[in-house]
Amino acid sequence: MKKRFYITTPLYYVNDVLHIGHAYCTVAVDVMARFRRLKGEEVFFLTGTDEHGQKIEQAAGLKGEEPQVWIDRIVSEDKKLWKRLNISYDDFIQTTQVRHKDTVQAIFNKLYEKGDIYKGKYEGWYCVPCETFCLEGQLVEGKCPECGRIAEKVEEESYFFKLSKYERLLLDYFDKNPHFMQPDYRRTEMINFVKNGLRDLSVSRLGTKWGIPVPFDVKHTIYVWFDALINYITAVDYLKEGEKFKKFWPADIHLVGKEIFKFHVIIWPAMLMALGLEIPRRVFGHGWWTVEGEKMSKSKGNVVDPHQIVDEFGVDAFRYFLLREVPFGLDGDFSRTSFINRYNADLANDLGNLLNRTLVMLEKYFDGIIPAPGTKEEIDNDLIDIIRKLPSNLETSLEKLEFHSAFSHIWEVIKFANKYIDSAAPWKLFKEDKERLKTVMYNLIEILRVVSLAVAPFIPYTSEKMEKQLGITHQDSFGAMAWGGIKPGNKIEIKEREPLFPRIVKPKE
Ligand code: ME8
Repeated sequence: MKKRFYITTPLYYVNDVLHIGHAYCTVAVDVMARFRRLKGEEVFFLTGTDEHGQKIEQAAGLKGEEPQVWIDRIVSEDKKLWKRLNISYDDFIQTTQVRHKDTVQAIFNKLYEKGDIYKGKYEGWYCVPCETFCLEGQLVEGKCPECGRIAEKVEEESYFFKLSKYERLLLDYFDKNPHFMQPDYRRTEMINFVKNGLRDLSVSRLGTKWGIPVPFDVKHTIYVWFDALINYITAVDYLKEGEKFKKFWPADIHLVGKEIFKFHVIIWPAMLMALGLEIPRRVFGHGWWTVEGEKMSKSKGNVVDPHQIVDEFGVDAFRYFLLREVPFGLDGDFSRTSFINRYNADLANDLGNLLNRTLVMLEKYFDGIIPAPGTKEEIDNDLIDIIRKLPSNLETSLEKLEFHSAFSHIWEVIKFANKYIDSAAPWKLFKEDKERLKTVMYNLIEILRVVSLAVAPFIPYTSEKMEKQLGITHQDSFGAMAWGGIKPGNKIEIKEREPLFPRIVKPKE
């Protein structure tokens, strides 16, 4: 039976269009999904949009639009972006869909009947941009402790979820599942948060119209986070409790930004415990991007539009930069200079040149026909050895979502190959040692074939372009990384060959 793999992005709010931060998380999930598919696993990759709550109501209201009209436009923009970034999601869930509304209401009913949801009175504060409740003592100079914006006072009847009941169970779970929270350095803060005591969570609002009504008390609207988290089981047909649910639940990885980690490792697991369901295997909290050293914000006018970057540098350069520049988990800074530096060094010089110079030499020395290897030297074994280790190195890195280190392993091969050319000096061998030249050229083509497969999850268009230029059929299994896949005797037709990554000439400072 095929191994299953269920991975999710957060559901992005539809109060505005998406920026590089959203693209970051989604590209990371896409890489994981593509990698697992290449390994032959049955993957379910879920993304979508979080469409309820005051924040959305206000955003639409400011433009004088009905929320649904506003939402439809943003969702179509979101989907356009994912298409452009070559995101291979299997399902796109929207929290206003009937399947989701039915699931949320059924769960609300179930937990109410069980006594895990009860009616009370909420007195405290509410931050609309974060859609979170905070207590008086948590405010910092009257502002939301998370985003620093003004919170509004709330005093109203509300339904509560008995979060406090799950304190002990959560701590036990964390203890028994040390890999549940990733990266490791986010664990302690969460454990301490629970140890300091959990309060029951208000899960309904009276003033918010744009949301799912409490089924048995429709003047109340279900709290947007309680609603949104449930999407992860709506999408695998929790209500039907059928094959899909059995197949894919619990999720393997929820990938989220660090600011919403707490919702995913405390509130969501407690909700699942209340429902008697399994807890996701892993929640990974990635870091945040700043831009030229500053927090991205509309008011500062420094929000980076992914389309602009793609227009200028191409999709794959964008995907590459996001995951290469910063160790996944840590915060990073996006700047044009670092983007161009990486692009030129890694993509144009290392990878692009390797392909180009190899194909030019093959054409020149062997009329484009791949030779069978001739005489061998010790260095060939070193090269084959690095290739042999590549699949397991990639697996280890990606198992930990260490994208930057996965790239280092691939680039170790690319750099080695470039040095191999320099030291073998094929231009000399052409005159002096044709048998040796055959081996060198065969090895270079074979390395490029392996590299074209290794980069496939990360920069899929580049992988396809490389395969085309190498004249090989599409490789769709990770097993094909084994050394020796290239067949001698094939002729690589040199048609018009576009450089993979044309060098960017930096304007003078
Ligand atoms: O929080 N750097 O949605 P959201 C890196 N609807 N990643 C960033 C980022 C940045 N500067 N800005 C945003 C919500 N992100 C809820 C989620 S899930 C059931 C509900 C990414 O639209 C990051 O992954 O505010 C973050 O967690 C997510 O976008 C938040 O998107």
